[in-house]
Amino acid sequence: MARRYLPWGPRTGVDVSDLSFLPDSVLWPLRRDGLDPVAEVGRRRAQEPISRLPVPFGVRAWLVTGYEEARAVLGKVDGFSNDFGNLVGSAGVGAQHNPGGLGFADPPVHTRLRRLLTPEFTMRRLSRLAPRIDAIVAERLDAMARIDGPVDLWREFALPIPSLTICELLGVPYSERDDFQRLSTARFDLGGGAGTPLGAMSQSVSYLLDLVAQQRRSPGDGLLGALIREHGDAIDDRELAGLADGVLTGGLETTASMLALGALVILRDPTAAELLAGGDGEMVNRFVEELLRHLSVVQVAFPRFATRDMEIAGVTIAAGDVVLCSLSGANRDPVLGGDLEKVDPTRPPRPHLAFGHGFHRCVGAELARMELRTAYPALVRRFPGMRLAVAPGQVSYRKASIVYGVDSLPVLLS
Ligand code: HEM
Repeated sequence: MARRYLPWGPRTGVDVSDLSFLPDSVLWPLRRDGLDPVAEVGRRRAQEPISRLPVPFGVRAWLVTGYEEARAVLGKVDGFSNDFGNLVGSAGVGAQHNPGGLGFADPPVHTRLRRLLTPEFTMRRLSRLAPRIDAIVAERLDAMARIDGPVDLWREFALPIPSLTICELLGVPYSERDDFQRLSTARFDLGGGAGTPLGAMSQSVSYLLDLVAQQRRSPGDGLLGALIREHGDAIDDRELAGLADGVLTGGLETTASMLALGALVILRDPTAAELLAGGDGEMVNRFVEELLRHLSVVQVAFPRFATRDMEIAGVTIAAGDVVLCSLSGANRDPVLGGDLEKVDPTRPPRPHLAFGHGFHRCVGAELARMELRTAYPALVRRFPGMRLAVAPGQVSYRKASIVYGVDSLPVLLS
């Protein structure tokens, strides 16, 4: 089914050619120095935690790098809009690019859709996935052990674990997961201009519309089937496809990047690996929270559009301004205490914004934690001698992605 919307080639019905170049003045908050945000993020946080970001297209934008300031923006229940309509008309973005779902929706639409989705993410509902996650991780470790020579940890471990977990959660046929990994990766990669993410967005929504139609005919055991059985009349196909798209793209690349970058941290610090391998559940949970904070793979939250003039932390934001919250900056703010530029697996957990804050806070946070808490210890226990197969300076990081990550991660397992 997905084949119809892929492969990459002439775009199908989406003309975003005029977005083929985004200048560095917009992209720099997404750049990093290895695992660390570029130094300018920290400089701005110290001097001006809410500062102007010069973007083209006649937009007045702000970058928020401080923890309290970002929390104030994300936690505001009125005064900001996430609605996709705010982007329409600027720089070639059309209403047809709207992926639907929660991230680009405002109340009351957001409230209604989120209420439908939340029950699918309670610990009780998620617990049915725990044995599946154990099995997926074990199967991946076995598959890696069978490979001779260097193993690409990104391709063999980091990407398939959340991919198979989400396929399981949603009820997406396994045979289509390769196509989806391609779509999701392209979705977040702004390095080649905004054309790629918008194209990928339209393609995955088209694909999911087909999947929804299939599930309407015969609802399966996954989240889509459950939503159709329980709320089939209250939600239309486009909304269902949008919700599924949000879950898929929200849960795949984010968790995959956490797995890959977390593995890098573990590879460069043998003590961390020992702590994880020998640690109890509490130790593992603490480590995972520290990695979530330190790595902040979702670098910048969805853009917030001011709907009225307001003052935040002494800065006047005018109606129509766009506010970008740097989660990677906020999560290293010294106000949280200690040297947060370093990873300290034994640090008592610090509050962090890795999953956002407020009513758009990540709906899949507990699922992501389940995956990370299972996968990291299993990896270090199975391959205690694992090491990088390339020099640390040769690891290929994403150049400018909303979700930071690697293109590949070659390791030797023993
Ligand atoms: C470590 C992995 C993950 C990280 C770091 C992460 C991070 C985030 C962040 C920062 C937001 C809020 C963005 C904002 O307010 O602008 C968010 C929202 C969201 N996430 Fe995640 N996420 C992860 C995993 C997942 C998973 C596993 C799923 C689902 C299976 C998921 C689904 C969503 C959805 C649907 C939203 C939109 C919520 C709303 O707007 O109400 N995420 N995520």
